[in-house]
This record gives sequence, structure tokens and C-alpha cells, in this order.
Amino acid sequence: LSKIEVKLSDIPEGKNMTFKWRGKPLFVRHRTEKEIASEAEVNVAELRDPQHDLDRVQNPKWIIVLGVCTHLGCVPIANAGDYGGYYCPCHGSHYDASGRIRKGPAPLNLEVPFYEFADDDNVIVG
Ligand code: FES
Repeated sequence: LSKIEVKLSDIPEGKNMTFKWRGKPLFVRHRTEKEIASEAEVNVAELRDPQHDLDRVQNPKWIIVLGVCTHLGCVPIANAGDYGGYYCPCHGSHYDASGRIRKGPAPLNLEVPFYEFADDDNVIVG
């Protein structure tokens, strides 16, 4: 399937759910107020792949990224690592709760795919 529809009310706050999309893992994360606030405050100039959180989301409650480490393609673990976002155990890349690379060998942030909110409770990726 080239598109996937995700029902957002199935994902509790603070949880990341993994879907399969175009043969790859797709992460949809319902961020907490604390995560939203701390990601918005990050100094973009200090980032390896500088991107403001607001340029990576359409609604700050939801971060939607490919679950493919930008180092060599392993699947990162959610809610892990030094920055509380994602941790790739293959060679130790740490991503924040915006999916931005913060530490370790990965060169780039987790990729944000094209998506649209169909309504308040459904997002269509692809
Ligand atoms: Fe993720 Fe190497 S593949 S750190």
C-alpha cells in the first residue's frame, strides 16, 4: 500500500506506535506537553542536522517519522536514549522526541514522510 491511515485516538499520550508503510517501519508518537515544550526550546544551532521542531510537525502533539536510523538503517527503539526520543542500538545513535539526531554516528534526523490530517483523529501518510 502506498498510503496508510492511522487512527490517532488509538495511541495514548507518551506512547510511540510502529506501523508498516512501504516496507518500512513508520513511527507515530503522541507527545506529552513536556516533550512538546522541551523540543521547542532546543537551540537549533547546536544540532548536527539543524531543524526546528515546528518544521518537523504539523501538530506538535504528533511526531511522524520513518523508523529507519539514518546511519545504516536499523530500527531505533522508542522512548530510549539520552534524549528520551529514540535510541538506535546498532551503533548507539540517540535521537530526541522530534526525531532529531543528537549523539552517535547517524548523520541526519529521522525522515519525516509526507502526511495529511484527514480530520482530528486520522492521519494519512503517503
Ligand atoms: Fe543506527 Fe548505526 S544503524 S547507529
